[in-house]
This record gives sequence, C-alpha cells and structure tokens, in this order.
Amino acid sequence: MKKKSVRDLTDAQVRGKRALVRVDFNVPLDDDGNITDDTRIRASLPTIELLLERGARPVILSHLGRPKGKPDPKYSLQPVALRLEKLCGHRVNFVESTDSDEALQACANLKAGEILLLENTRFLGGEEKNDQRLARALAELGDFFVNDAFGAAHRAHASTVGVAEHLRPAVAGLLMEKELEYLGGALANPKHPFIAILGGAKISGKIDVIEQLLPKVDGLLIGGAMACTFYRAMGLETGKSLVEEDRVSMAKDLLARGGMRLTLPHDATVAPSLERSTEAKAVSRNAIPKDQAMFDIGPQSAASYSRAIASAKTIIWNGPMGVFETPPFDAGTRAVAEAMANATGKGATTIVGGGDSAAAVAEAGLENKMSHVSTGGGASLEFLEGKKLPGVEILDEAD
Ligand code: 3PG
Repeated sequence: MKKKSVRDLTDAQVRGKRALVRVDFNVPLDDDGNITDDTRIRASLPTIELLLERGARPVILSHLGRPKGKPDPKYSLQPVALRLEKLCGHRVNFVESTDSDEALQACANLKAGEILLLENTRFLGGEEKNDQRLARALAELGDFFVNDAFGAAHRAHASTVGVAEHLRPAVAGLLMEKELEYLGGALANPKHPFIAILGGAKISGKIDVIEQLLPKVDGLLIGGAMACTFYRAMGLETGKSLVEEDRVSMAKDLLARGGMRLTLPHDATVAPSLERSTEAKAVSRNAIPKDQAMFDIGPQSAASYSRAIASAKTIIWNGPMGVFETPPFDAGTRAVAEAMANATGKGATTIVGGGDSAAAVAEAGLENKMSHVSTGGGASLEFLEGKKLPGVEILDEAD
C-alpha cells in the first residue's frame, strides 16, 4: 500500500506548523567524536528544505549509536547539529534534552526558517520499549509527523512508531519515499533481466533474502565468504575458509531449488591468512588448498559477474564479494561496483543495499553512479526479506 508523502500535505496542513521529523542521523564517529561520513545527514536535507520552503518549522528527532536508554556524551547529537547547520545553511538550534519542558519551550520559540534538533532519542529509557507515555510526550512536539528515517524503520520505537499513533498526519519524507520506491519497485515490478548479487560473510544472515529473491530474479550471483558454505554443500574442499557447518544442508536445498539461476564463483582468491595478503593467489573453486582460505571471488568470476551485470536491466546488490577493506581482496567488490556504475550509464536500474556494500561503493567514489544507494543497513535487508517495516506500516496511506 502506497504511503502518503510530505508532498501530499496541503498548505493549510504545513504553513506555520511544527513538523516533527524523525530522521536517521546515526552517523559514524571517530574516537574524537568527529563525523567520518555525513551521507545520512545529506540524505535528509531535501525533506528538511522542502518543509522550510513550505513554511513549516522542523523539529528533528534522531537516534545515534546504542547508548542503552541513558545519556552518554559520546553519543550526543551536538556534532550533528553543527554539521547540519553547515550543510543546509539554516540556523540549527540544539537542545540537550528531548522529553522535557526545555524541549517543548524551544519548539514553541522556534522561528520561521530555523531548525530545532533535539538530543538523541536513545538517551530516553522509553524509546526502545516504545513506551506510550513517551510516545505521547514526543507527539506534543509537533503539529504533524514526518518519518524520513528509513534506516530505523525496522525498529518499533517510541520515536518511529509510538509517536505516529498520537500525531496525524503521519507521512513519509522524501528519502523514505525514494527508498520505498526503489527497493519496493525492484521487488514488485522489476525490468528484466533482473539479477541480484549477494555477498557477505554469512549465509545465515541472507537466507531470507535469498528465499525472497530466488523466485523473482533471472539470476542470483553469490560472493563473499558465504560462497564457501555453498562450496561445502557441493562437496568441495574449502581449506581454512569460513564455513557455517550448521547451514550446509540449507545451502544444499537452495542449490537444488535455485538450479541454473543460482551462480557460485568459479574461482577464488585465497591466502594462508588475511595478514599474509601478499601471498594471495587465484585458484579454481575445485582447488582451494587445505592450508588457505578464500578472501575474495577470483578474477574470472569478477569478469563473468561484470558481464551478467552489463546485460541486466535491474540489479540489486547487497554484501561485499570479499574482504574489501584489505587489498588485494577488494578486487571482486570493486569489479561489481564498477560494472554497476557502467550499467547505470546504459539505462539499467542499479540499487545498492546499505551497510558494507554502500561503504564499498562510497570508497570507490561511485555512489553518484548508482540509481539508488540505500541509507538503511538492517532496514534494507529486512525489506528485501519481504518483512513489513513497522515505521512504514504506521504511516498514513496515500489517497
Ligand atoms: C542503522 O545504522 O542501521 C540504523 O540507524 C539502525 O540502528 P540500530 O541497528 O542501532 O537500531
């Protein structure tokens, strides 16, 4: 069911009103508290700017990190307030509390053209429990609710779900809308050939995605260490590679059901250990030495995956092909990222699930060459698994 968007609200619903906006400003910080990647802040700017243009006064809520329901200065949103002000050019008032008279007063005093950012919602004990008293208190902070936090939409918390039970209209922000359009569109109505590339260390975290995608795709290409659990299921030697022994029979079943649609890498880049990366070499998947482990897909597989990507019209990618943080084991992941960027240029729809694959694409400087890079890690995975996201479900339906 399509959800109502911030664009669907009438002028009377927006002008002069306080817009309570839940965003996902859960950004990575270094040891000194500096923001190392502000992608998620930039991704919510269109919604904030649209609200300001339409004369609303944005009051912003977000979580940061996992501070366990009490204040922890390490996870304060103060540095985010400074970065937001720099990026959007509007004054950002920051209040060091959220469920307080001070926050209510700051909302009431908020001037047109200014933004208010309240402190980390996870400093509040009731947030992750979706406490109803807290949800009602948060609802007092706005005249309508906008959820732009796709990255937190799989969490049924007071600031994502509870608040929307008490504050209407409750609509999707522009980022939320875009995420649902791309990820939902690929699942519901993809242009064919449609291929999915799944990687990462463990098959256990990807089983539901594989189950969901297998009947829909023309090809499902596997990479990352999880290929080794499939190799074991095929009776191949896997050396010292990571294998999830308790998932081998499940892998056998998927191989049988996937048939020609499920592709495993034909070669692997192996080494005695991650530390001994200078000894890396490519071997056929039938020849992984007993004393070595697979750390990347091999060059032949990288080339054949790139060809498959070049001939597809819709491509979804989630999970790296190898240990991309440690060269030369980044080669497979880079090849996939580059092939996807080229495919976008030729008119294909290319979608990168969040988390590690998004980080790899950013590292390769290719994020602007994809149709969509999701800002959600866990959320995009749950969405691709076919699960309903509570933060989306609660929003008003489009007319
Ligand atoms: C994320 O980074 O995936 C989201 O912000 C959700 O964070 P969480 O896993 O701590 O709920």
